[in-house]
Amino acid sequence: MTDVVFPRGFFWGASTSSYQIEGALDADGRGPSVWDTFTAAGRIGDGSSAATACDHYHRWPEDIALLKDAGFNTYRFSIAWPRIVPAGTGAVNGKGLDFYDRLVDGLLEAGIRPMACLYHWDLPQPLEDRGGWLGREIVGPFADYAEIVARRLADRVKDWMTLNEPNVVAIFGYGLGDHAPGHTLGEAGMLKALHHQNLAQGAALRALRAIGPDLRLGTVINLQPCGAQSADAQDVAAAARWDAVWNRVPLDGVMKGEIPSILAEKMAGIVQPGDEAAIRFPIDLLGINYYSRMTMKYETGHPFDVWWGEAKCDRWTGMAWPVQPDGLYDLLTSLKDGYGNPAVYIAENGAAYDDEVAPDGMVHDAERVAFYRDHLVQVARAAADGCNVKGYLCWSLLDNFEWAFGLSKRFGIVRVDYETLKRTPKDSYHFLSAVAKRGGF
Ligand code: FCB
Repeated sequence: MTDVVFPRGFFWGASTSSYQIEGALDADGRGPSVWDTFTAAGRIGDGSSAATACDHYHRWPEDIALLKDAGFNTYRFSIAWPRIVPAGTGAVNGKGLDFYDRLVDGLLEAGIRPMACLYHWDLPQPLEDRGGWLGREIVGPFADYAEIVARRLADRVKDWMTLNEPNVVAIFGYGLGDHAPGHTLGEAGMLKALHHQNLAQGAALRALRAIGPDLRLGTVINLQPCGAQSADAQDVAAAARWDAVWNRVPLDGVMKGEIPSILAEKMAGIVQPGDEAAIRFPIDLLGINYYSRMTMKYETGHPFDVWWGEAKCDRWTGMAWPVQPDGLYDLLTSLKDGYGNPAVYIAENGAAYDDEVAPDGMVHDAERVAFYRDHLVQVARAAADGCNVKGYLCWSLLDNFEWAFGLSKRFGIVRVDYETLKRTPKDSYHFLSAVAKRGGF
């Protein structure tokens, strides 16, 4: 194979999120989140919970050592809002801030650049009880929380992401009900939750900017190039609607201050005068989470009369997601051509497979290695073609609590034995480590 080379100074790392790895849900004054409630309601497929997960809350030094040994220089983690402001508003929990303070110091000591994400889905339950992302009352509490965290950490954390995948939160949490808080409100739920996250994000970004002109501010969106199942006009129109809901409301919101015209009528009662200006912000970093393309079809009985069709693909992950590396190239190119070539980080990319522990005690996850290799080829190609892609963070450092699938789906480059909590680097860890150390492969 010819050499796959990345730009000089390219950043390498891994991503995680608080709820998926920390455990210690009752420790040090943390308040309840919507995922605790969802779990207690029996909504996790394998009946597991995140009560212990990877016990990262106590084992973080070991996890930092894994990042360091891999040769990674960047780490995206999220901060648990319910640890910082347990009731969603009001009293601040100093012990929660202390945890992230220690983590950040540990990362910096290890020579790793911390990239903090303020919201990776663990919404304080008291805020959900007041409507959660369905109402604009949440904007103030989110901006206040952002400010509280930044006042403590921004002397050392220079890279800030506001939201992780507002589209997934809105669509699955408020529209379809597969994720916490589990609302099945269809179109209205999706559009309200999307817009109010956009608004809260705009307010938080302004609060962060006021704290530090030197901070690099951004957001993380799950972007999936959206195609139609067939050339049939109804499929094509359905895919365009879904592209607007999934990709363009979050992306055009922050980048352009625009509501896609195709949704203008449906969002008329949600968007108020001045909102377009409030959701737009000149971000410094755009995090994109890429897993696959979307292939959509016209089908009544679903929000927007659209549903997932059959992807034409011969490789699938353990989530039954199609493996489509060239979609990442198309996505990066579309950001270059349509959005002014922003500084992009691949903030998540990875795959779950049914890993097995080999007799030698190791995990020889050849499919995951192939997944990473094939996607990295596309990232390097996009960079060579002028895309302003700055770094690549795999999902995920550790096997973890995969939301409604619980502990049954393993996305880590490091295996976690949930009985002993022992960490074992997989072949994919060694592969990405070699790539990071050499700057290519
Ligand atoms: C993304 C989430 C992340 C993880 C991966 C597999 O949508 O941001 O937490 O669940 O999918």
